[in-house]
This record gives sequence, C-alpha cells and structure tokens, in this order.
Amino acid sequence: MEVQYQLFEEIASGSYGTVFRAKNAYGDIFAIKKLTQRFDSWPKAQEQTDIRNLLKMPYHPHVCQLLDHYFLNEVLYLVFEYFPCNLLTFIQQNKRLHTLQVRNVSFCLLQGLAHVHASRFMHRDLKPENIMIDPISDDLSVLRLQIIDFGNCKQLLPNHQNTNYISTRWYRAPEQLLGSTSYDYKVDVFAAGCVICELLSGCPIFPGTSELDQIVKLLEVLGLPNKRILDKTMLKLDGYRTQAVNQTKENLKMLTGASDGMADLLTKMITWEAGERYAAWQCLSHPVFQ
Ligand SMILES: Nc1ncnc2c1ncn2[C@@H]1O[C@H](COP(=O)(O)OP(=O)(O)OP(=O)(O)O)[C@@H](O)[C@H]1O
Ligand SMILES: [Mg+2]
Repeated sequence: MEVQYQLFEEIASGSYGTVFRAKNAYGDIFAIKKLTQRFDSWPKAQEQTDIRNLLKMPYHPHVCQLLDHYFLNEVLYLVFEYFPCNLLTFIQQNKRLHTLQVRNVSFCLLQGLAHVHASRFMHRDLKPENIMIDPISDDLSVLRLQIIDFGNCKQLLPNHQNTNYISTRWYRAPEQLLGSTSYDYKVDVFAAGCVICELLSGCPIFPGTSELDQIVKLLEVLGLPNKRILDKTMLKLDGYRTQAVNQTKENLKMLTGASDGMADLLTKMITWEAGERYAAWQCLSHPVFQ
C-alpha cells in the first residue's frame, strides 16, 4: 500500500501512541494518531474503539471526524483535521479569559456535546486536553473547536453496565466517584461544567489528590448532598466544613469570577444528582447564551 501522508512533527505522545503533524501530496496539513497497539489484520484494526465509535458518529463541526485511516506494518494510523492547540495549552497560555470569550467557547463545546449525546454516545473523558481549539479571532467570536479522543466513548444502550473508574479524576461526576455502573451521558455535562470553570479561573475547580479528596473537594463547593448520596460517600463528615446547598452559586462565583448568568448555568451542570443536572441541549437554551 502506498501511503499518501508524510509525518513530519511529533505533537504529543503517550501510552496510546503518538500524534504527528502530517501533510499529504498537496501540502494539506493533518493530525495523524499512530497507535501503539499492534493489530495482526486489517479487520482486527477496524475493531479499535476510536475507529468503531467515530465511524458511527454523524458529522458535526465541533466533533472530530475520522477523515481517513490506514494500516501499515501492523500499525494503525488515524487521520484528523489539524488544530494548533488543545484547550489545556490554550488556558495555560491565556490565563484569564474574558466573559465573552468563555461564553463563545462554552457554546461551541456544548453544541458538540449535545451532538454526541443526540447520536446516543457518551464521551466519558471530557477534559481540556481532549478539546482542540483554533482561536481565529481575539474575542473568540470566530473559532474552530472540536471534541477529540473517543477512545473511552460508549454507545448508550438500555440497561447498560459501565465501568465506574473511567475518565480523569478531576472531571469525574459524583455518580462515577460513588461507584455507579448505570451512569449516563450526564457525566459529560458535569465534566463540561468543570471545563467551563477552568476557562474562567485558569485552574481546575476540583483538583482532588485521591478519590476521597475528590469527594471532599465537591463537598466544599456543592455543600452536602441528600442523605441517599451522603450514605454512599461513607465519609465521617464531622471534620469537614461544608456549606449549605444553596450557596453553590456564590461559591462558584467566588472561585471562578463567573457572571451571575454563567454561575447560574454552572449550578445546573455541576450537581450531585444526575437527575437534576441539565442535559447539554438544555444548557444551550440557558439565558446566558441568548
Ligand atoms: N486533531 C488534532 N490536532 C492537533 N493535535 C491533536 C489532534 N488530536 C490530538 N492532538 C494532540 O494529541 C493529544 C493526545 O490525543 P488524544 O487525546 O486523541 O490521545 P489519547 O487517546 O489522549 O491518549 P490516552 O489514551 O492517553 O487518553 C491531544 O491532547 C492533543 O494535544
Ligand atoms: Mg486524550
């Protein structure tokens, strides 16, 4: 097989493999993910999770699209649109963004997420490193943004059982932290809320150092959950200073500098109860985006 891409610069590397900047014969630039995992045949390679999920995902401008993929010497290569940076690097470079910039980025992110959920998938690893951005204008009223990394993504099926310790700890929803295996797409809304807080303040909102500390960090901002959830935390809370639940909005405002409207949206995304949490499409019709 003749490969039509030339890999010329390493962008990122990890246990999964390496992401390169690459170009085709016409000089068009792409990002190519070269996977570490070896496959002994093309049909086996086609079963790889990113491929399986991405090929089923209908097109949306804010969700990465698998443009091409090829198999060479037992190695699988996935071809994507190229972006200059991920949201983590962007936040680190820009520190505090303006309210309007955060609003514009959040809107694109939630549009992408609503599409993933409408396609009956949950991403399960939403975090700044898995969101790519190309800030075209300074106020970010024009930007390219895509949710990437569908390696942990799962199709939503009735009565499904999930593994509970998927997704990066700092962005994990309470139901995941408390061991639920029947959580659903609302875990992504919780994570998106954490990402928006990080855009506002420049640092993670719940940087837990362990599973237990993660729950304590949630308690400090969200206050006490109801008794059913509280019993699951199995925490002796005598030592913890916790706020009344109705202070969540004030706490979020204080920690992130969010406007009244944005803080209100965040209280609908960052909740103990998945049932009370907004879906991504509901977030999009919040007054803060009008
Ligand atoms: N389309 C792209 N354009 C530019 N850079 C990209 C692109 N896709 C991925 N990257 C870079 O590569 C990094 C890793 O990519 P990705 O998230 O897909 O791999 P990974 O699956 O996280 O690995 P892990 O198994 O550790 O979760 C991203 O955080 C980003 O910095
Ligand atoms: Mg990733």
